[in-house]
Amino acid sequence: MYTAAILTMSDACYAGRREDGATPEVGKLLLSSGFEVRETGLLPDEKDLIVSELRSLAAKGYDLIVTTGGTGFSERDVTPEATLALGGRNVPGVAEAMRSNSAKFTPRAMLSRGICVIFGKSVIINLPGSPKACVENLSFVLEPLKHGIDALKGTVTECAR
Ligand code: MTE
Repeated sequence: MYTAAILTMSDACYAGRREDGATPEVGKLLLSSGFEVRETGLLPDEKDLIVSELRSLAAKGYDLIVTTGGTGFSERDVTPEATLALGGRNVPGVAEAMRSNSAKFTPRAMLSRGICVIFGKSVIINLPGSPKACVENLSFVLEPLKHGIDALKGTVTECAR
């Protein structure tokens, strides 16, 4: 099993005005793909809080940290900026793959600014906030991501088939 954490960013959910539907959906998908979700969290769309929580989750060495929400155009959407601020290594292909695959579902997929980075021993991936969008994005990249995680952990050194 791989280890994972889910961190949801939403002012509305944090204030109790909306239920967080994304975390359970992402959790189900992760579990069925061989990831043990060890921790979940919910934050308002505040960059400093997000940076600090992502740092603390990465320090625990989770293989994968999935964020949901805060990737759009609203002024409060700052999840990609917080993820970038960690100073990890960018993985543009994963974000590109999510957006290009998601275009099959909606042209609005291009509005998600989510990124994917390697930070310490963790891969951090930003998903949009809607539960449906989370599943559409994550399901497409999860299997290939495992190979990247294996390489990061040093459990595979050979990519040839
Ligand atoms: N990606 C998929 N696969 N399916 C979707 O419905 N919604 C888009 C986009 N990505 C969507 C998607 C929309 S409408 C927005 S505004 C952006 O994700 C950003 O969402 P966020 O602000 O909740 O992070």
